[in-house]
Amino acid sequence: MIDQQPAPDVAAVVVLAAGQGTRMKSATPKVLHTLGGRSMLGHVLSAAAPLAARHTVVVVGAGRAAVEEHLAAIAPGALPVLQEEQRGSGHAAAVALDAVPDLDGPVLLVNGDAPLLRPETVTALVDAHRAAGNALTVLTAEVDDPTGLGRIVRDGAGAVRAIVEERDATDEQRAIREINAGVYVGDAAALRRSLARVGADNDQGEQYLTDVLALLVADGERVGGARAGDPVDVLGCNDRRELAARRRTLNDRVLDELMRSGVTVVDPATTWVDVTVTVEPDAVIEPGVQLQGTTRVATGAVVGPDSTLVDTAVGEGAGVVRAHCVGAEIGPGVSVGPFAYLRPGTRLHAGAKVGTFVETKNAEVGEGSKVPHLSYVGDATIGRGTNIGAATVFVNYDGVAKHHTTIGDHARTGADNMFVAPVTVGDGAYTAAGSVITTDVPPGAMGIARAAQRNVAGWVSRRRPGTAAAQAADAAQDAGAAGAADTRTQVSE
Ligand code: UD1
Ligand code: CA
Repeated sequence: MIDQQPAPDVAAVVVLAAGQGTRMKSATPKVLHTLGGRSMLGHVLSAAAPLAARHTVVVVGAGRAAVEEHLAAIAPGALPVLQEEQRGSGHAAAVALDAVPDLDGPVLLVNGDAPLLRPETVTALVDAHRAAGNALTVLTAEVDDPTGLGRIVRDGAGAVRAIVEERDATDEQRAIREINAGVYVGDAAALRRSLARVGADNDQGEQYLTDVLALLVADGERVGGARAGDPVDVLGCNDRRELAARRRTLNDRVLDELMRSGVTVVDPATTWVDVTVTVEPDAVIEPGVQLQGTTRVATGAVVGPDSTLVDTAVGEGAGVVRAHCVGAEIGPGVSVGPFAYLRPGTRLHAGAKVGTFVETKNAEVGEGSKVPHLSYVGDATIGRGTNIGAATVFVNYDGVAKHHTTIGDHARTGADNMFVAPVTVGDGAYTAAGSVITTDVPPGAMGIARAAQRNVAGWVSRRRPGTAAAQAADAAQDAGAAGAADTRTQVSE
């Protein structure tokens, strides 16, 4: 049994997310860029979620409307606070605290661009802050390459004295490899007092949140630094190259967890799984697979190679090969692909098959039924034990509205059929190959809807004389006449 620590009592979580993110070179605000199926902002909020803070404040500015809309969708309880002008991270923090004047106690301040932050790292920081009785505690990390980051300046006794931004640092300070992760816990009152005194006398002319540390030191307050266990957890994300690197790291984390839990990942390098996906032990993920959104894969299923599953459920023992599936339910033992496109509202019951070059949408395929080849199944209900012939089109759209087709149980429909909806084919019915079915076929009937065939004898020899076709036809006719004579002389045993 593991002792569950009570969640530390935190007055507020403040996410700094107003910055433009200039280095992303994007019309999308930086914190809305996604990795592992979540925005950067979403990752930061979920890392802070276990604190169960009384207030969650998100400072917005650049791309404000988009960030607020996203926030309302992912964290409706959070309070967006507008920082009209981006005057620096210190100014952003001050604006946030002004919006919640009654705060008292520890406040977590976190950069919105730290998507790899883990809940346990945040919780450990808050615990360290409390245990030390600090006014401010900063999360730090020892990194190999501190370029661009704020350096942690300690005194001879190892006590944290200041955070110096790289552009304002001396050569000696630049050699420091302990960096500011951009995550802080501070006492609300101490933060307010010190933020009010932060100037903009630095290379960027901005009010730096990092300056509060030295101000508190000067006031004789206790400050400290807590080192993150794994420096990778605290890396920020300022441009697209860093975004790709963070995405890779996050994905490796997700895959490691899956493999530890008993999932076979054949090629981690080409497998991408969102943090929101679940995969049961003894499922197999082949190379070139993306599992996204609310996708769930049950035990014994084999997904891939080369498949993308978005918000799709895969049942026990199912197989999905080279398929693109969105909003589909794939039942146990179902076979999908190769080369299938399952669109929203597809429900494949146990043991069904959707084969090669088949597209489905808003379609239910009953237990053990098969749509093996080259077909479009839209707005349809297919019963159990039914076989749909190759190259069938469910003609669901009349140019204005969509209509439904129902095929019963144990039906056998011919190849190259069109089911012109709305239409129903009854249980146990057959349809003839090449039929355009426009009216209902009763149970057990054979629906035939095609022109009767007519052969114009000798047409090729008359109309295409001298061609290879005519010569072949003439030769076949001669041989046929001889063969016909032969058969009369044959004796059967
Ligand atoms: C910041 C830290 C640096 C640290 C690094 C960690 C400062 C001054 N520096 O640098 O010490 O090592 O993070 O990744 O804080 N923001 C606002 N409003 C503003 C300006 C910024 O909300 O006016 C937000 C940004 O959206 C971002 C965060 O504050 O989420 C930090 O700003 P950013 O420009 O990314 O700072 P860095 O240069 O990365
Ligand atoms: Ca940053």
